[in-house]
Parts: sequence; structure tokens; C-alpha cells
Amino acid sequence: MATGGKTVWVTGASSGLGLHTAMALRADGWQVIAGARSFAESGRTEGPEPGEDGIIRLPLDVTNEASVKAFCEKALGITPRVDALVQCAGMLVLGSCEETSEEEFLRVINTNYLGMVRVNREVLPIMRRQGGGKIVMFSSINGLLGIPFQSAYTASKHAIEGYAECLSMEVKPFGIQVMLVEPGDHRSGSEKYRPHAAAMTGESPYAAAYDSATKVIHRDETGGSDPDVLGRKVARALDRKRLPLRKRIASPDQHLAAILHKLLPGRLNERILTGYYIRRKPE
Ligand SMILES: NC(=O)c1ccc[n+]([C@@H]2O[C@H](COP(=O)([O-])OP(=O)(O)OC[C@H]3O[C@@H](n4cnc5c(N)ncnc54)[C@H](OP(=O)(O)O)[C@@H]3O)[C@@H](O)[C@H]2O)c1
Repeated sequence: MATGGKTVWVTGASSGLGLHTAMALRADGWQVIAGARSFAESGRTEGPEPGEDGIIRLPLDVTNEASVKAFCEKALGITPRVDALVQCAGMLVLGSCEETSEEEFLRVINTNYLGMVRVNREVLPIMRRQGGGKIVMFSSINGLLGIPFQSAYTASKHAIEGYAECLSMEVKPFGIQVMLVEPGDHRSGSEKYRPHAAAMTGESPYAAAYDSATKVIHRDETGGSDPDVLGRKVARALDRKRLPLRKRIASPDQHLAAILHKLLPGRLNERILTGYYIRRKPE
């Protein structure tokens, strides 16, 4: 699809869905500037050379305001516009509500939610000045419903959902569109971004339930949907004149879970989800 040389910035693009989305956008003809902590600083004053895949990579830590500002400055030095921003940077900490530490909660919220807020705060003035743009924020099915032992992540994604609704109404008059992407499980995420809370040992009072739930979570992720398909769907959506506020990209059963969560009484939902994740005898 020809994009007329438009530029997109993608955060969290060193692995997982961010990388697959960056590759799909590049294949569609976008100029892609990707950010992640593991991307090396380039010594060249004119910015880094694109990789073999045509993607330009710049270092970015979304938890650090100076790093966010430096990323934006360098990206603007490469092309003076940002037609779209796709925010994928994220991580989670698995653990019980009781035993996840304040530092662990803060780490997840700071990366997933405040990280997006920081990048948006830099990009919004640029998009307003240029007369418009598109902002895509990666939420999750967990932005719609909670599951046991993913409370920090679920809270961060619920925060993103609420924030994006507010943002969308505020920036529409400036020609800026906001879209939430709500992926279900995809076989893309790296284990290093899913640590266990330090307190989740065999001594935990939640150990048996935790063992059961994390096995189900792991099984669903490794057997999840194809990340390339998601990348192409996001790229196709960005090509549209009008973006939907929400784009859910999930397997039929995860779609169904999100619909039931809206329709069923809370306690019934809870029973279904608890029964799914917490088996009395973990396999
Ligand atoms: N995979 C799934 O099934 C799934 C389902 C629902 C939603 N999602 C969402 O999709 C997004 C991507 O997740 P994933 O699981 O596919 O990818 P992932 O493999 O977990 O990769 C996470 C990405 O975020 C980057 N990142 C982490 N902390 C960062 C920071 N402080 N600053 C900048 N970048 C940072 C990492 O790069 P560096 O370490 O190099 O910085 C990496 O590129 C996340 O927002 C996630 O919540 C994923």
C-alpha cells in the first residue's frame, strides 16, 4: 500500500508485536523510526543508517523523560514530520496483589502507562503544529477485563483505556486521531518482559493458585495468534482515513470473553475466569 512517504514512529519495536508492526508498516511503504532501550546510539551526526529491513532504530527509554525528548529530537532531525505514532513499549510483572511490591507496581505503571503519556506529551505539539496525525496505543484484552495474578499489568492497561478516551476527545479538533489496539494472546512476547514478583516463591500462600494460573497464561501465550497478522492489521488500519477508537485483535474465544465481560453479571464472570485460570490440581 503506498503511503506517500509518510513517517511513523514505533516505540517498543525491538521485539514482539512492536517489531512485527514496524515491519508491516515498513512493508507498506512507511518511513519507520523505531525506538527501544536496546537500540544502540549512532555516532553519525545525521542519525543512524536504516537497517537492512529499511527501519531506522534509535535508543528510547519511555520511563526517562530526557530519553524521550532525545528520541523525538533525533527522529525530527531525520524527517520533520510524524504522521503516526504507534506505542507498543510494555512489560508485566506476574504476582499476587498482596505480594507484588510497590516498586514492582510502579515499574509496570511507569513503563506501560506513564511511558505512553510521556511520549504523547512530546508528540502532541508536533502533530498540532503540522495539522494532524494518528496515535495508536497498545492496550490489551487485559485493558477490558482482569485475570488473576496480572493485576499490575491489568491496572496499567485499564489506565491506558481511560486515558485514550479522554485524549481522543481533546485532540480531535486538531485533526489528531487516537486508536487503542487490544490484542489477545499472541505468540510473540519475550519471557524477559514477564518476570515473577520477587515474593512469588513456593512459600507464598497463593503458590498453588499462582502455579495453575501462570501455567495457563504461559500456555495461552505460546499457543497464541500470529504476530505477523496483527502487524498487518494495524498497518491496514493506519492506512484508513478514519481510525476506529478501538481495534481488538484476538482469537474468537478471547473476543467472546470480552463480550461476556460486558454482558454477564460480575460474579458470574468471576466464576468463569477463576475456573479457567485456577484449577484445584495444577497440570
Ligand atoms: N504478546 C502478547 O500476547 C500481547 C497481548 C496483549 C497486549 N500486548 C501488548 O503489546 C505490546 C508489545 O508486547 P509483546 O509481548 O509483543 O512484546 P515484548 O516482546 O514483551 O517486547 C516489549 C518491547 O517493549 C520494549 N520496552 C520495554 N520497556 C521499555 C522502555 N522502558 N522503553 C522503551 N521500550 C521498552 C522492549 O524493548 P527494549 O527492552 O529494547 O527496551 C520491547 O521492544 C505491549 O504493550 C503489550 O502489553 C501483547
